[in-house]
Amino acid sequence: MKVFHKINPLKDVLNHHRSNSLKIGLVPTMGALHKGHASLINRSMNETDVTVCSLFVNPIQFNNTRDLDTYPRTLEKDIHFLEKLGCHILFNPSVQEMYPYPPVVEFGFGEMEKSMEGAFREGHFSGVALVVAKLFNLVKPHKAYFGQKDLQQFVIVEKMVKDMNIDLELVCAPIIREESGLAVSSRNQRLSEAQKALAANLYKALQLGQQLLAENHDISSVKREVSNFLSQWQDICPEYFEIVNTCTLKTVDYMEDGKEVALCIAAYIGSVRLIDNIIFKK
Ligand code: PAJ
Repeated sequence: MKVFHKINPLKDVLNHHRSNSLKIGLVPTMGALHKGHASLINRSMNETDVTVCSLFVNPIQFNNTRDLDTYPRTLEKDIHFLEKLGCHILFNPSVQEMYPYPPVVEFGFGEMEKSMEGAFREGHFSGVALVVAKLFNLVKPHKAYFGQKDLQQFVIVEKMVKDMNIDLELVCAPIIREESGLAVSSRNQRLSEAQKALAANLYKALQLGQQLLAENHDISSVKREVSNFLSQWQDICPEYFEIVNTCTLKTVDYMEDGKEVALCIAAYIGSVRLIDNIIFKK
């Protein structure tokens, strides 16, 4: 695997691959790689000729300096992990390389960022969109891979790509889970074993919500039941539980046959903030 810390040599190699008609796949990450990331890399390896994984803890998408400071950084381990997967290129720029001066461009996504992650993390999606747009411009991938784990992020990136006519194909890959149902996340590293077991109840809460929707319970009673279910555990502090339209991300008031919704949850276990979701169609 070739490792690049600088933009220009990366561009040179990718231009060369492009001129040989090779298809480029991009998997943007912030590192502390796990089997969720591996599923995206493997998919790109299967569907394209050259897989580029970017590893950059993007400071401008964190609105909480403690979260940024404590974000796990495990570069040596990540390089080893990517080499084992057979990834072709790692792009690991410094903050200085990505932001030689403070960026002034901001992105707004209207209603799409008013709920859920957007509501609780001001400026988060502007920061995500800017770094993703920069990566798209630098790598010029044919395909880019994102996880359903961050559903709102995917839908917003998809909107940005459409609105800006960025010429690439986006892939949304399914959520990889532990056996307990806990969605795999870099943040899980900061949980004790007991906290991990507790965190698995977030998925159980989503499953309960899904089951109640399938049984035709109305949205407000589903929300109430899910909230009651989670209130059994003092150490789970839910931030939101929302049922949203998967295209617009707007909160849904009632279920319509054939319309897809996503049940989305965020909660703190100790100081660790976790998110998860399930997509459901009646
Ligand atoms: P990060 O949290 O490292 O996630 C990188 C990609 O891996 C995202 O698309 C995310 O949805 C996906 N992912 C994480 N956990 C997953 C799981 N359990 N199953 C499947 N996919 C999973 O998301 C980011 O980084 C950043 O916001 C980024 C897009 C890189 C921009 O900085």
